[in-house]
Amino acid sequence: MDFRSDNTAGAAPEILDALSRANAGKAAAYGEDGFSRAIEDRIAALFECEASVFLMATGTGANSVALAAMTPPWGAVFCHPQAHVHQDECGAPEFYTGGAKMIAVADRDGKIAISDIEAVWATLAHGVHNVQPAAISLSQTAETGRVYRPDELAGFADFAHRRGLKLHVDGARFANALVHLGCSPAEASWKAGVDILCFGASKNGAFAAEAVICFDPHLADTIAFRRKRGGHLLSKMRFIAAQFEGYLSGDLWLRNARHANAMARRLAAGLGDIGGARLAYPTEANEVFVALPASVIAGLEADGAQFYRWGGAESTTLRLVCAFDTPPEAVDQFLASARKHAGECG
Ligand SMILES: Cc1ncc(COP(=O)(O)O)c(C=O)c1O
Repeated sequence: MDFRSDNTAGAAPEILDALSRANAGKAAAYGEDGFSRAIEDRIAALFECEASVFLMATGTGANSVALAAMTPPWGAVFCHPQAHVHQDECGAPEFYTGGAKMIAVADRDGKIAISDIEAVWATLAHGVHNVQPAAISLSQTAETGRVYRPDELAGFADFAHRRGLKLHVDGARFANALVHLGCSPAEASWKAGVDILCFGASKNGAFAAEAVICFDPHLADTIAFRRKRGGHLLSKMRFIAAQFEGYLSGDLWLRNARHANAMARRLAAGLGDIGGARLAYPTEANEVFVALPASVIAGLEADGAQFYRWGGAESTTLRLVCAFDTPPEAVDQFLASARKHAGECG
């Protein structure tokens, strides 16, 4: 009953097999090898465009390099209050950009809204003393498990581009969002106006594989240098490429995400029937946010369930994350435990 994170899962066997295959023989270093070149082309083809693709090992590195390509050191980046780039990257985006400022706008049922960016913008001074709006960063799926529809992405892109801003998408859970949307990767990215997508694989079956996909050719020039300078140009890049090879082959990425999302739906449906439980957000991808009575939470913990509380150690809202390898039995065991303890508390 481990619902702490999709990061607690191991790597998918298909990806380990792909790594073994890539391990044979010698290969050129620093991404000059055949594996890396081929996977960059394959990712661009998957997105049906001429995008520049940069393989990296962590989401924090990918987001930071992407944002650095979009904003000057005096730039401002609008984001959700719980955005990973804002809360959980130890200031790496600010560091890589040379000082750009993350500006959180209001939470609207787990997402952000253009009207709130406009409202914050109106309060900003625009002189030489002030940071200058440069980008909008969305997470897909959002940290609250919500998913932005292509028309919503297009609205952000249109708003951003009309004002000279760029649109960044932190796609650490892009696959989970995509299977929820049921559209193509292109429709959920550049066709909706996204300038750079950080396409994550680590949470969905890989162990350290992310791709910065740059759809705007004007932004691509500096990314290779930023990646190297940031310590993310792996000498043995073929192993990142191999993870993507295993990830994309046979649509493993979509199958894994479908499974994780299905487990989250099963969990949310079961919790919905439990007295005193309240879902904090609609369950759209692989994360469930549920408020439960403290006694039920204590009972779940006593039964060995593992999870994080959303909003601090005292919060009674839980974040439950399903992964590609979450067994249905774990979901059912969690629900049985919650029901049992809900019954105990009346
Ligand atoms: C929304 C989001 N973005 C990015 C990341 C990537 O982080 P890391 O640098 O740990 O790979 C995470 C990891 O938890 C995440 O949840």
